[in-house]
Order: sequence, then C-alpha cells, then structure tokens
Amino acid sequence: MASPRTPVSPPELPEKNFQYRQVQYWDQRYKDAADSGPYEWFGDFASFRALLEPELCPEDRILVLGCGNSALSYELFLGGFPNVTSVDYSPVVVAAMQVRYAHVPSLRWETMDVRALDFPSGSFDVVLEKGTLDAMLAGEPDPWNVSSEGVHTVDQVLSEVRKQQDSRPRCLQGEGVELSDIGQIQQSENEVWSRFS
Ligand SMILES: C[S@@+](CC[C@H](N)C(=O)[O-])C[C@H]1O[C@@H](n2cnc3c(N)ncnc32)[C@H](O)[C@@H]1O
Repeated sequence: MASPRTPVSPPELPEKNFQYRQVQYWDQRYKDAADSGPYEWFGDFASFRALLEPELCPEDRILVLGCGNSALSYELFLGGFPNVTSVDYSPVVVAAMQVRYAHVPSLRWETMDVRALDFPSGSFDVVLEKGTLDAMLAGEPDPWNVSSEGVHTVDQVLSEVRKQQDSRPRCLQGEGVELSDIGQIQQSENEVWSRFS
C-alpha cells in the first residue's frame, strides 16, 4: 500500500501491472513527478522506525535498493544513521534525488540495477528495500506460487545483496542484515488513491 503525502494529484498508473517491472514506466513517472515532493510506498520512516531502529547501529553502512523518490534515506540520516547509499535503475529519479539532497554529502545516490550491483563486495552492513521487489514481481498471477521468472529475479537480488554484506562484527549481535518489505503491489495503486485522495 502506498501512502502518498505529496503530490496531491495521483501519479499516472500503468495500464497493466507488469509495467511496474519496466524502467521506462518509472522514468516517465518520475519525469511527471519532477516538481513533487517525496512519494512513499507502504509508509514512511516513522511508520517503520520502531522496527528498524533496533536493527541498526549509527555507524552502519546502509544500502537502500530501489529508492525511488522516497524520503527514507534522508530520514535515516536525520534519525542518526548518516551513511546511506541509495540506488535505483531510473536515472531520472537518481538525478532528482542528487539535486534534492545535495546539501547532505553523506547521502549517496547511484543509478544501478539491483540485479547487478556494482560495489566492491562487503561494502554494506545493512541492506533495505521497500516496494522494490514488489515492483519487480508485479504481474505475478499468484503471489503464493511465484513463476520461475519471479523466483529467478528474487534469487538474483538476494545473491547480489549477500555479496554486499560485510561479515565483520557490528555493534549488534550477528553479521549484516537485510530487511525487506514485500507487500502487494498487485493490489493496485488505484485502491490506495481512492482511500487517500
Ligand atoms: C514501488 S517503487 C518503491 C520506491 C521506494 N522504495 C519507496 O518505498 O517509496 C519501486 C522502485 O524500484 C525501482 N526499481 C524497480 N526495479 C528495479 C531494479 N531492477 N533495479 C533498481 N531499481 C529498481 C523503481 O524505479 C522504483 O523507484
């Protein structure tokens, strides 16, 4: 479920849910939203803070997958977790985020496909995603019986994530963590907009 705060008008929704898998869809959507504020899928940092904070250390190097134009990375910075790298495969949104948060040098933004991350292995302690795997699995007819293509997609992402995670001890017990929020993009943004607008 998305919880849009701004913009006031709904985004252009795809005709078919599988379009959420296409970078062309996201590029166009982010071009259309160029003058808008953050758009949060599933909820903002405050909604997840109580769950996230116990898993994080202030010095953690955090990677956010498929950041979109969510304020999550900035709100992590404000919440005392300054070392955040955010990637998205839409160059349009990455350029917009670089401009929006240019005043915060510890936030880094890269255009990158989460199926082929281009960082040295062991670069991060924590990997977060919110809505990205959902988008990559949109159009699956049955979320309980994911197609072999869907399984392959998830395997690709998890294998990239594991390469990034550092095994050195953290302030918390255990090694790096991956926190994922797989929701139900299939249940159409239309429902969300009819509730929020
Ligand atoms: C549903 S939006 C979620 C955006 C943001 N994480 C949030 O919580 O509001 C999905 C995002 O994932 C990005 N995305 C989808 N597939 C991707 C991929 N293979 N690599 C990188 N980013 C991807 C899209 O461009 C889009 O910004």
